[in-house]
Amino acid sequence: MELPAPTDDAANLSRQLQQLISEEISNRGPVSLEQFWQRAMYEPGLGYYSGPQHKFGSAGDFVTAPELGSVFGHCVASFLNQSLPDLAEATILEPGAGSGAMAATLLQSLESMDRLPARYQILEVSAELRQRQRETLGQRCPELLERISWLDQPPEDPWSGVLLANEVVDALPARRFVRRDEGWDETRVGLGAEGLQWVATPADQQDAAALDRRAGIPDPGYHTEYQPMMAPWVQALTAGLTRGLVLFCDYGYPRHEYYHPQRDRGTLVAHYRHRAHDDVLRWPGLQDLSVSVDFTALAEACDGAGLEVWGYTTQAQFLLQNGLAEILSGILDLPLEQQMAMHHEIKVLTLPAEMGDRFQWLMAGRGLDPAPLFALDQRGRL
Ligand SMILES: C[S@@+](CC[C@H](N)C(=O)[O-])C[C@H]1O[C@@H](n2cnc3c(N)ncnc32)[C@H](O)[C@@H]1O
Repeated sequence: MELPAPTDDAANLSRQLQQLISEEISNRGPVSLEQFWQRAMYEPGLGYYSGPQHKFGSAGDFVTAPELGSVFGHCVASFLNQSLPDLAEATILEPGAGSGAMAATLLQSLESMDRLPARYQILEVSAELRQRQRETLGQRCPELLERISWLDQPPEDPWSGVLLANEVVDALPARRFVRRDEGWDETRVGLGAEGLQWVATPADQQDAAALDRRAGIPDPGYHTEYQPMMAPWVQALTAGLTRGLVLFCDYGYPRHEYYHPQRDRGTLVAHYRHRAHDDVLRWPGLQDLSVSVDFTALAEACDGAGLEVWGYTTQAQFLLQNGLAEILSGILDLPLEQQMAMHHEIKVLTLPAEMGDRFQWLMAGRGLDPAPLFALDQRGRL
């Protein structure tokens, strides 16, 4: 795919990062996609999340549901309003808060319902995004800033409330594999005449076993991936949660669809200036990397962390059951321009071929009796 050229400064940063990765490969041999990903995304000063690149909105690389407008955050607030009796004492913990758009809308909506949480904590790996979040929240809800804090690590002390992660699990590093007649090869990143390139070497036994369990034995040539960090990440974030909810929204599939025989190129994708493409080794540090989420693995990770899995549904259903109908009923009272903008936002959020079915919600938690439910629960698909 033809991609817009980066600025000279950005290209220079990416070349420095390519140099570091190439030196590592020259010294130690090919690295896993997970190791490449760690550097491409988090290398201090150079990685996509640790560098200065503008990531969100029209000047960035992608747009997320909370960035489209206020509908998504308002519906999440409606759901929390119905599901958590003691919000006034609760903490909302948001890992990977992007531009801060969801935090701002959510807090404003909860305030309008007179249901503000005691604390809003943001766990953010990117210094550039932390700064953006402070600016967004300072502009949109300055009076609420005293409730908001930023964390470097998951909370160590016991806490109760909600863990809320939108489009974060897809950003956790993945490893990539290809099926051969005799077993699995790991697709690693090596060096060729043209620079970074894919090389395949036999997968280690632990990965091969994980893939057999998830994907079965697909036809030779089948490419796929999985995220070994997912379970330890869920465990670390929820270890201190004594009572409350865990909500993940992301793009992905239940396992039997994720590892469907027809999905034989996997789900790994790079986002660069609003273009989704598969040249993930191009411009390390300048493009976002992600994979779709295996929601069965996410449910297993919750279970392994001692949480109960309480619900699974599509984004469209979640929004329709939690406030979208009220928003729609009030839309005709808005000025025409706002009506048009909101129609567009709702279409993108709910149409199946846009975000409606591709994005899904998984809910888990502990200590709430009765446990909250999604109206059209689809846990049977997991
Ligand atoms: C696609 S953005 C989503 C942002 C936001 N939640 C939204 O919906 O607009 C991914 C976010 O995940 C964060 N992130 C990436 N890797 C992470 C990790 N290992 N742990 C926690 N957050 C991470 C990024 O810094 C970024 O804020």
